[in-house]
Amino acid sequence: MRRSLDPKSLPTTYTRVVLAERPVGDIIPHKTFRTEPEQKLADLEPGEKQVLVAVDYLSLDPAMRSWLGEKKTYMPPVKIGEIMRAEGLGTIVKTGKDSKWKVGQTVKGVFGWTEYAQMDDKAVALRTVPKGGELLDFLGPFGNVGMTAYFGLFDIGKPKPGETLVVTGAAGAVGSLVCQLGVLKGLKVYAVAGSDEKVQWLEKELGVTKAFNYKNKDIYDQLKKHMKTFDIYFDNVGGEMLNFMLTRMNLFARIVVCGGISDYNNPNPAGLKGHLNLISMRALMQGFLVLDYASKFGPAIAEMQQWLTEGKLKRKYHVVDGIKSAPEALPLLYNGGNTGKLVVRVSNIREGVKTKL
Ligand SMILES: NC(=O)c1ccc[n+]([C@@H]2O[C@H](COP(=O)([O-])OP(=O)(O)OC[C@H]3O[C@@H](n4cnc5c(N)ncnc54)[C@H](OP(=O)(O)O)[C@@H]3O)[C@@H](O)[C@H]2O)c1
Repeated sequence: MRRSLDPKSLPTTYTRVVLAERPVGDIIPHKTFRTEPEQKLADLEPGEKQVLVAVDYLSLDPAMRSWLGEKKTYMPPVKIGEIMRAEGLGTIVKTGKDSKWKVGQTVKGVFGWTEYAQMDDKAVALRTVPKGGELLDFLGPFGNVGMTAYFGLFDIGKPKPGETLVVTGAAGAVGSLVCQLGVLKGLKVYAVAGSDEKVQWLEKELGVTKAFNYKNKDIYDQLKKHMKTFDIYFDNVGGEMLNFMLTRMNLFARIVVCGGISDYNNPNPAGLKGHLNLISMRALMQGFLVLDYASKFGPAIAEMQQWLTEGKLKRKYHVVDGIKSAPEALPLLYNGGNTGKLVVRVSNIREGVKTKL
């Protein structure tokens, strides 16, 4: 027997966005992607152990740029003509006859840039909003972003109270959480971001020791003057800033290589300079992938939830509206147009979130 919402409440068509061509350099929203409206919803009829999901929110992530290339990275490339890959949150609106899920349940899954997704039962996971949280937190502190900040800082950075932490991409989704975790653990936190507004937010709202706008010409002098040297560098940007940081290490410093967004759109990134300093400073430089920590997420999420409830952790969402906005919204990550976690609100079901593009 099939269980579903009143079929009359579902539309007959939906919109999806596919990869049209691989970008060389910057993403060109409506050249790189193609919006395909008027798709027949009847074509997504769930099979026996499947569900139909109405997508509520989609996460936009810097790593998406690497999925647009031809080469396999930690994930295979998205194929030309394929729905753009993205993780999201959605509501089950129809179930197959042997599905273990129920209509109305909220689930997380890799739905892609589409308003509706036909998903295998095992490809979705139930999400129940905990006390003190909101649904979007599953794409923020309780999601990959939060876990990246948590395990990158604690497992690789291994902070000790009183140490100096410097964070780049500091006003973004991961960076803003790393800064706060650093403050929470009694570190001196120096934050680097791309505008004066972001600097203000980091200092006044998130309580970092000092923040810097890296677009100022004297940025390296400013960092030398105030930060001097560091124990932990949480690197989200790579490039020139990383080269500079390799000259500012304390003995036994740790460089957490989380990302290198300054080079994601660059077809010919310059190589690293200054890494030989790692030898004299007996320093560690380590990359990591948050997915490798999946088996440890449970207790980490519980801790993040506790800090959120106690008001020790803040999060900010930058929400753009509608699946058709996704191609134009993605480049915000590479030009600094976002503050906090960038998401697309796909359905109109959920209210109370700010819209900005
Ligand atoms: N290792 C992992 O498992 C893992 C998991 C998730 C994310 N990451 C990485 O973590 C980093 C942050 O990701 P996120 O999701 O939190 O994104 P995000 O920080 O919310 O957004 C990206 C930010 O990067 C900054 N940026 C863009 N171009 C830059 C440049 N040339 N130089 C310096 N900053 C630049 C922009 O802010 P400004 O205004 O400050 O320029 C932008 O807001 C990314 O590198 C991402 O790939 C790694």
